[in-house]
Amino acid sequence: MGAIIEAQELVKVFPGGIRAVDGVSFQVEEGEIFGFLGPNGAGKSTTIAMLTTLRRPTGGTARIAGLDVVRDADKVRRVIGNVSQDLAVDDDLTGYENLKLQAGFYRLPRREAEERIEEVLAMVGLTERARDLVETYSGGMRKRLDIACGLLHRPRVLFLDEPTLGLDIQTRREIWDYIRRLREEVGMTIFLTTHYMEEADSLCDRIAIIDRGKIVAIGTPEELKGRVGQEVLEFEFSSGTDEAVAAAVARIKNIPNVREVRRGSGNGYVATVVQGAQVVPALFEAIAGLEVKVGSVSLKRATLDDVFLYYTGRKIREEEGGEGAMRTRMIMRRVRGR
Ligand SMILES: Nc1ncnc2c1ncn2[C@@H]1O[C@H](COP(=O)(O)OP(=O)(O)OP(=O)(O)O)[C@@H](O)[C@H]1O
Ligand SMILES: [Mg+2]
Repeated sequence: MGAIIEAQELVKVFPGGIRAVDGVSFQVEEGEIFGFLGPNGAGKSTTIAMLTTLRRPTGGTARIAGLDVVRDADKVRRVIGNVSQDLAVDDDLTGYENLKLQAGFYRLPRREAEERIEEVLAMVGLTERARDLVETYSGGMRKRLDIACGLLHRPRVLFLDEPTLGLDIQTRREIWDYIRRLREEVGMTIFLTTHYMEEADSLCDRIAIIDRGKIVAIGTPEELKGRVGQEVLEFEFSSGTDEAVAAAVARIKNIPNVREVRRGSGNGYVATVVQGAQVVPALFEAIAGLEVKVGSVSLKRATLDDVFLYYTGRKIREEEGGEGAMRTRMIMRRVRGR
C-alpha cells in the first residue's frame, strides 16, 4: 500500500497566467495529520481544490487512496470529506437539519442517516445543541458543525481548509482537540491548511511550507525547526558607525555555533544558532574592541516563522496587511455571524 495522498508535480495555471500551484509533490501516510502552511495566496486552497476533484490540474497527477483525482473523480469523492474555507452551514436551520440536508446529498437511507448524524454530532461535541438554530451558535460551534457535515459519509481522508480562520485562540484549541480525536478514534487522515504557525506546529505530524505555489520545506515541525538551528538570537546595535557595525557582524558570523546572520527590522539582526546560551557571551567577546554598542540581545527557540523566513526571506505575518487580511476579516465576520 502506498501513501493515501500522493501528489506529483501538481500544477494549476489560472486564465491570465497565474501559476497558483507550481509543481507540488508530496505524500501523506494513512492516519497522519498533514498541514500546508503558507501565507495568503500561496496556493493552499487551489491545491485542495485539485485534490478534492473540484479543479482539474493543469499538470501533474494526484491520487487519493490509489484513485486518480481526474480519472476516478467520482470514487475519490466517496473517500474524502471536504470542509472548505468558507462556512457552508445554513443559519436558519438547526444543526440537526443541516446534517439531514447533507445526508440527503449523499442519498443516505433514513435509518442510516439518523445513525450517522448522531455519530458525527458526538464526534464534534454538538449532541446537546443539535436542535437549536445555527444562528444561536458561537463561531467555534458553527465550524464544528461544518466539520460534522464533512464527516457524514465516513471519509477516510478529511480536507480542512483553514479550519480555525478568524476564531479566537481558545476556540482554535478546541477545534484542534476535535481534529486530534478524529485521528485517534477513527484513524482518519487529515490534510489541513493554515497560516497560523502555532497551529501547524502543535497539530500536525508533518508540514509542507508553501510559498508562491511551491513547497519550500517539508518535514516534521521538529525537523524543520532543527534545520534552521534550534534557536534564534536577535541582537541590536544601539551605536556604532556603519563600518564598525559591519565589522562586528562579520565577527559574529565567525563564532562557532552561529549558522547564519540576517538583517532584522531597524538596527536589528537575527542569527540562527545552536547552543545559544554560550553564543551570547561569545558575541560580546567577539566584538570587544570595536566602536559599537549592543543595545539588546534576546534568545528564543526557533519557530516555524523562522523556518519560513529562512527559506523565503520574508515573514509569514508580513503578508497579513493587504487583501488577504481583508478577506480574513470578512470571513471572520461570517463565522461569528453578522
Ligand atoms: N479562480 C481563480 N482565478 C484566478 N486566480 C485565482 C483563482 N483562485 C485563486 N487564484 C489565485 O491563485 C493564487 C493562489 O490562491 P489560493 O486561494 O490557492 O491561495 P491560498 O494559499 O489558499 O490563500 P489564502 O490563505 O488567502 O486562503 C492567488 O494568487 C490567487 O489570487
Ligand atoms: Mg485559501
